[in-house]
Amino acid sequence: EKDTLILSFESSCDETSVAVIKNGKEILANIIATQIKSHQRFGGVVPEVASRHHVEEVTKCINLALEKAQVGYEDLDAVAVTYGPGLVGSLLIGIMAAKTVAFAHDLPLIKVNHLAGHIYSANFVTDLQYPFMSLLVSGGHTELVLVTAPGVFHTLGDTRDDAVGEAYDKIGRVLGINYPAGKKVDEMAAVGKDTFNFPRAMVQEDNLDFSFSGLKSAFINTVHHADQVHEELNKDDLAASFQGAVLDILVNKTFKALKQHPVKQLIVGGGVSANQGLRKRLAEEIKERNLDMELVFPPLRLCGDNAAMIGAMAQIQYDKGDFADLDLNADPSLDF
Ligand code: KG4
Repeated sequence: EKDTLILSFESSCDETSVAVIKNGKEILANIIATQIKSHQRFGGVVPEVASRHHVEEVTKCINLALEKAQVGYEDLDAVAVTYGPGLVGSLLIGIMAAKTVAFAHDLPLIKVNHLAGHIYSANFVTDLQYPFMSLLVSGGHTELVLVTAPGVFHTLGDTRDDAVGEAYDKIGRVLGINYPAGKKVDEMAAVGKDTFNFPRAMVQEDNLDFSFSGLKSAFINTVHHADQVHEELNKDDLAASFQGAVLDILVNKTFKALKQHPVKQLIVGGGVSANQGLRKRLAEEIKERNLDMELVFPPLRLCGDNAAMIGAMAQIQYDKGDFADLDLNADPSLDF
């Protein structure tokens, strides 16, 4: 059978990425231009700055990806692009670039949901077996999603307020850590002890939703109060206490979902899936419960935003003949 080559684009936030993916499984190239340095001094992503960087980077990324993959436009079968969720100005740059390539080279266009992409990062690691459970944890999202067939998603639970990565970034700022703070907080948590006993919101409730804003406020209030009375708190213990609460919440809801829907695979995706504490804890919990279930994390370089994962999801849509028109628009608040 003939191979399928998809040129995929991702520009939903602060990474410009272009990939060439073979049969949804093999990464021939995955170029990622990150803008983190430009946003750090503002403490978060500035949408206008992000859009301008995407404009500057996207053509370079296309050329690098084709060069790395050693393919030309004539070898491609389709062009895929993230159309949401994300920052509208950022999304539009990727969409415009993808449409241009599709139109100029008469290739079908595939519109991909960014969240679906995060889930399908796992396609590069294992053979997915349906149905599988997915825990999606990123800077913008915290969701439990049951995937019953290729590209068929059922959201079981969602965050009521902050996303987990967002909470990491906000408490990180209070600890004086540069954006994005998740990795550093994770490292500090590995050294510290869970001594502050922060709240574990909604774990008693019989639903699969998450809430992190109460935890974030408790953390910030603790630090501010200590500042007022000139008390020195151990930062590693603060980080460990925050992460302890986060992991308890994520574990509680994930295993509630797995009890309702026993599956053979648990797929974790999104920026926070790089978290070492989470990786260790989920593995331990599966072992403790004697579950015959494969735990899948993307390799670290595919945890953050990247176009490879968009190409993996796009292959499923390609096989279904699910193509977009050239009037495709961005959908900043797209969900499943
Ligand atoms: O998936 P991603 O690159 O962007 C979104 O699509 O949202 O996720 C970025 C988020 C940031 O909030 C960052 O702090 C967090 O992932 N993150 C981590 C770790 N590495 C990145 N959070 C916790 N532990 C980590 N090791």
